[in-house]
Amino acid sequence: MPGDGIGPDVSQCATQVLNAVADRNGHTFRFDEQLIGGAAIDATGDPLPPQTIASCQAADAVFLGAVGGPKWSDPNAEVRPEQGLLKIRSVLNVYANIRPVKIYSELVGASPLRAEILEGVDMIVVRELTGGIYFGAKTRDESSASDLCLYTVKEIERIVRVAANLASARRGKLCSIDKANVLETSRLWRDVTDRVMAAEFADIEVETLLVDAAAMHLLSRPADFDVLVTENMFGDILTDEASMLAGSMGMLPSASLGDGTVGLYEPIHGSAPDIAGLGIANPCGAIASAALLLRHSLGLDKEAASIENAIAEAIAAGARTADIVTGGNKSITTWEMTTEIIRCLS
Ligand code: IPM
Ligand code: MG
Repeated sequence: MPGDGIGPDVSQCATQVLNAVADRNGHTFRFDEQLIGGAAIDATGDPLPPQTIASCQAADAVFLGAVGGPKWSDPNAEVRPEQGLLKIRSVLNVYANIRPVKIYSELVGASPLRAEILEGVDMIVVRELTGGIYFGAKTRDESSASDLCLYTVKEIERIVRVAANLASARRGKLCSIDKANVLETSRLWRDVTDRVMAAEFADIEVETLLVDAAAMHLLSRPADFDVLVTENMFGDILTDEASMLAGSMGMLPSASLGDGTVGLYEPIHGSAPDIAGLGIANPCGAIASAALLLRHSLGLDKEAASIENAIAEAIAAGARTADIVTGGNKSITTWEMTTEIIRCLS
C-alpha cells in the first residue's frame, strides 16, 4: 500500500530492492498494490476500502508507505487518511510495533546530538499499537471534546512479553515508560509490567521511567537503553524523538507484529507531502522495513541481513539523500540511493 505523499516514492524503492533480492536468491515475490489513506479517499471515499482489507488478509506480509496530507487534514473532515492506517493495524491485530533505532557511525554528524552522546546507541522501542487513546471512544460537540484511553490487562501483558523476549535476546535490559503519577491506565501498565517481569523474566533488568523523564533521558543517555516498551501514544511521540539520534526520520524502519507471522511494515516517517515526487525523500527507512518484512513474515533471515548490510555499505561509501548529508558528501536522489543500495546487495 503506497499511500500518500512520499509513500509511493519510497514504496517503489522498497519494491525494487525486494525484487533485486528475489533475483539474487531465486525467490519470486508477488505484489498486490492497494489503495489506503488519502489516495483511497479520493478514489473510493473510504480510507481503507474493503478490497484493500481483503488483499491484506490474503497476504503473507503487508508493506505500507505513508498516509496523510494537507488535502485531507481539515480538522472537521469526517473521513481521514489516518483512519485507514489505524483500521488496518487493528484488523490485522498487529499490536506490537517494533522500532529499532540504530546509528550508522558515518551519520553521527547528521544528528543534532554530540558524537560522544551517540556512541553505542542501539535500542528497540516496542510501541503498543492497537489500544490506548488512539482507539478509545471519541466525542466532540461545540464546547468540548474527549478521547478515551483504555487498556486491558491482556493488552499490557502481551506487549510486555514481546518486549521482554526481545530484551532476552539482546542486552537483557527493559525500560517501561508510563505516566503512573497521573494516569490510571499507566498505573495498571506499571502493575502488570512488574508482575509479568517478576514472574516470567526474572533475569531481565527492569527500569521504569515516567514519559516526561524518558523524553529527557533519550537525549541525555541514549546509549543506556536496550529495549523500551510503552503505550501507543507515548511510543508515537518518543520514536520521532529517537529518530533524531539516527540523524533523520527517514532512516527508521518499523515492523508491526501480532500473534501470527503476518506483519505490517512501514517506515516511521510520515507522508512529507511537501517533497512528494521530488526524488529527495530518504528511502532507507522503507528499504530497512522491507528487510524486517523478509525476516519476520517470510523467514528469510539471510536476505534480510543482506539488505541491512547493503544499506550500511551504501552509507559507508558516502551515499546520502539530502536529509542525511554530512561532511563533504553530495546529496543524491531517492532513486540513486536505491540503486546504490541494490549495488551493495550481496
Ligand atoms: C506513526 C504515525 C501514525 C501514528 C499517524 C500517521 C497516524 O505518526 O506511524 O508513527 O500516529 O501512529
Ligand atoms: Mg508517528
